[in-house]
Formats: sequence, C-alpha cells, structure tokens
Amino acid sequence: MEISSEIESQIQQLDEKFKNIDQKTQTHLDGLLWAKPITYWDYIQTDALLNLQIQRTTLPDEMVFIMYHQVNELLFKMILWEINQVCHCEKPETQFFTDRLMRISRYFDMLTTSFDIMGDGMEVDQYMKFRNTLTPASGFQSAQYRMIEFASTDLINLIDHRFRATIDRNTPYEHAFEHLYWQAAGKDHTTGKKSYLILEFERKYKAEFIRHMQEYNTINIWQKFKQLPENDQKNPQLVEAMKHFDKTVNITWVMGHLNAAKKYIESGKGSAEATGGSDWKKYMHPKYQKRIFFPELWTEHELATWGE
Ligand code: HEM
Repeated sequence: MEISSEIESQIQQLDEKFKNIDQKTQTHLDGLLWAKPITYWDYIQTDALLNLQIQRTTLPDEMVFIMYHQVNELLFKMILWEINQVCHCEKPETQFFTDRLMRISRYFDMLTTSFDIMGDGMEVDQYMKFRNTLTPASGFQSAQYRMIEFASTDLINLIDHRFRATIDRNTPYEHAFEHLYWQAAGKDHTTGKKSYLILEFERKYKAEFIRHMQEYNTINIWQKFKQLPENDQKNPQLVEAMKHFDKTVNITWVMGHLNAAKKYIESGKGSAEATGGSDWKKYMHPKYQKRIFFPELWTEHELATWGE
C-alpha cells in the first residue's frame, strides 16, 4: 500500500492525540490489528434490547403493553438527551434552540400519534386479566416523564394550583416537592395518607428528583427561551414551536392517554379502579390540572379554556 501524504497526516494526528494522553501510538495501532470488525448487532446492542420484554402472564397482548411502554421510555430518553443539550449550552443561538425544540416536539408528536397502539391494539379481555398482575405499578412511576417536566418549565408551573400562592422561588425544594401536582394522585383524599404507589416511587427517585429540580431551576427550557435576544423571543415560528411543544405534552398526549385508559378501565369488566389506585378520571383530565409549561405565551382565553 502506498503511504500517501493524507495517510501520513492522519498518522501524525493520531500520534498527537495519543501523546496528549501519554499513550504509545504503536501500541494502539497493534490493538487495531486485532480488533474485531463491528457488526450491526454489537453496535445497536440488539440482543440486549430484544431480551428486555419479559411477560408476567401467558396473555399475548401483554407483550404489546410492555413493548409500547419501552418505546415510550426510549423516546423519553431521546427527549431528555436534546433538552440536556439546549439547557446546558451557556448561550444557545436561536437557530440551535429552535432546531432542538423541533426535535423534541417531533418525538412527542410520535408518542401522541401512536397512542392507538395502546387504545386499539390490545383485546380488552386480555388487558383486564394481565393488569391485575401489574398492580400496584403504574406509568405514574415513570421517572423520565417527571424529569422532562422539571427540565421544561419553572417549578411553580408544576405545583398543584391549590398551593401556588404559598410557594415561590425561596421555598425549599423539599416543600415544593410535596406540593407538586402529581402528589394528588398518590394520596387518600380524606386522610392525606400517601399510597404505596407513590411511597415506592419516592423511595427510589426522590433524591434524584430534588437534584434535578435544583439543576433546572435556572436553566429549564422556559428560562433558556427568556435568555434569547428579545427580538428572537418574538419570532412567530419560534413562539409557535414553543406552544406546539406545550400543547402536545400537556393536552394532546394527556388526552390520548386518558382516552386509552378510559376504554380499558371503564370497559365494565373488572373494577373501574386504576392499577395505581388514583381517582384517575378527575386526576388525568387536562382541564382540571391545567398543566402549562409556558403560560406567558398563551392568551387569557386560551389559559381559561385549556384542555376543554
Ligand atoms: C392501556 C394503557 C394505559 C392505561 C390504562 C393507563 C392508565 C393510567 C392511570 C389510571 C394513571 C393514573 C395513575 C394511577 O395508575 O392510578 C396513569 C398515569 C400515568 N401513565 Fe398511564 N396508562 C396507560 C398507558 C400508558 C403509557 C403507554 C404510558 C407511557 C409511558 C403511560 C404513562 C403514564 C404516566 C407518565 C402517568 C402519570 C401521568 C400524570 O401524573 O399526570 N401510561 N396511567
């Protein structure tokens, strides 16, 4: 083989790279000589990925349920991957901010337009049987879903409306955490006692959530948007992209989820209770919760009629 000037330059660059980390280039070239060529399955880790679908019952539609939840978690990870880049970039250019926001929106669009896989893709009879083996687990315990929320908006917008007036930026995180909107789904309304569903969730993730709340306090998507040049904040396409994201997460996805849940839980077969045990119909409707990431971008009327 002829050692062209291009190859020589590449060897030079490699040599520099290894010198910088006190390594011998020749040892690394020897290593290359014996390295196994990469395959698709090693790179994508298909064997590991395709071995994560473990049913608890013999009912075939349980597989649809498990896999679709896993697809959701993968998409949540893709969303957090992009949010992380935008939020940790000290001074994102408007174009970079917009491009990343569009990526995030596309992922969430995919989740909302595919909800039929849950709504229409399982036999009600089968669902009503295998759901009993999942009790008391619930999608409520998806930590990535909560992480997306913490990273998208100011904490006050995730606080239960009944307590907002008592909470501000000086409120300790622990106290704010106890008043997050989703605490309502994990408590007995009359006694205020926390359910097993939420106690387990908090035992596993509370410390991580508090760290995440702190981390994104000043760098969440809304804060990053407010740091863009004022003129750019008025850019109609960018404002539209922000509103689209807000609406997709907090209305379209929530309604798709609620309608799927209704179809099964209200089928008249078995109890009409949620596996997580919440007062789910009231809790899940966007018009009651009015979760809104970017309230300043909506009109009074739009805010008042949110989710109706
Ligand atoms: C037939 C399918 C589904 C049913 C019947 C269903 C039912 C429910 C119910 C009743 C709740 C309220 C909490 C409780 O369990 O008591 C809930 C919460 C939740 N579920 Fe699902 N779900 C389904 C599919 C999904 C899927 C595919 C995901 C994707 C990861 C998901 C994610 C969530 C999340 C994030 C929450 C918390 C929402 C919030 O706090 O507002 N669910 N689900």
